[in-house]
Amino acid sequence: MSTSPQGSVTLVGGGPGDEKLLTVAAVEALRDADVVLYDRLAPHSTLGDLAPNALLINVGKTPGHHPISQTDIESLLVKHALDGSRVVRLKGGDPFVFGRGAEEVVACRSAGVAVSVIPGVTSAISVPAAAGIPVTARGVTHLFTVVSGHAPLSDDEHRHLAGLGGTVIVLMGVGTLPTLTQGLLAHGASPDLPVAIVERGYSPTQRTTLATLATAVHVASAAAVRSPAVLVIGEVVRFADRDDAGIAQVFATASALAAAE
Ligand SMILES: C[S@@+](CC[C@H](N)C(=O)[O-])C[C@H]1O[C@@H](n2cnc3c(N)ncnc32)[C@H](O)[C@@H]1O
Repeated sequence: MSTSPQGSVTLVGGGPGDEKLLTVAAVEALRDADVVLYDRLAPHSTLGDLAPNALLINVGKTPGHHPISQTDIESLLVKHALDGSRVVRLKGGDPFVFGRGAEEVVACRSAGVAVSVIPGVTSAISVPAAAGIPVTARGVTHLFTVVSGHAPLSDDEHRHLAGLGGTVIVLMGVGTLPTLTQGLLAHGASPDLPVAIVERGYSPTQRTTLATLATAVHVASAAAVRSPAVLVIGEVVRFADRDDAGIAQVFATASALAAAE
């Protein structure tokens, strides 16, 4: 236990699951922690070594199953900090990317608890990379959009996404894949647009399923795709098959389109 009269809370981004993707700052915060509240997708199998002096509390939620509510998590953070502990809130990926980090910062500040944030490697970029997919590629696309698929997007959002082009990255999107693909197709996206679904990135069971916008729902269902997964939609997906001729073709097509504009 820390000797300070009042403790603190540090929100720590744990990256996509492989402890080698923890930052140096994250490792130091864990090493000094008295209490660690950790999520399901944060790297936790070796937490006993990473945080040798800490009380470890699993507050992991699975889709549709929240054994500890968000309010209870916030109360625990505040309680342990007010008791004088250095509390680490270890989250998957980055705390501020669909991680409810903002709510936890506000809860701590409202209770007068010192709170800081250590960013993490977000799955939105790293999980595609694990499958060989760059989210941008010079001459192919200069923009990417990250969206939550936790709830279906609105018709307007589908229209904007389809019109924007570039790479679309979807987290928590397995359940809403049918509405997403229908929405993008309805607003003019090409049915041939490549789609990758990367499950369990950085784990021994990582798997990439490739399809197109038109076939994605069928292919995902046939492959029994499950959460956690990152969906990637766009020309950059062609890098995933590591077919050099195919990649050269992507660049050639992009150059021809740019020249024609
Ligand atoms: C609640 S969001 C949290 C995202 C996190 N804050 C981040 O920056 O990566 C959880 C979603 O992230 C994605 N995700 C996180 N880790 C993943 C992994 N190792 N492999 C595949 N998807 C992952 C999945 O879409 C999962 O449903």
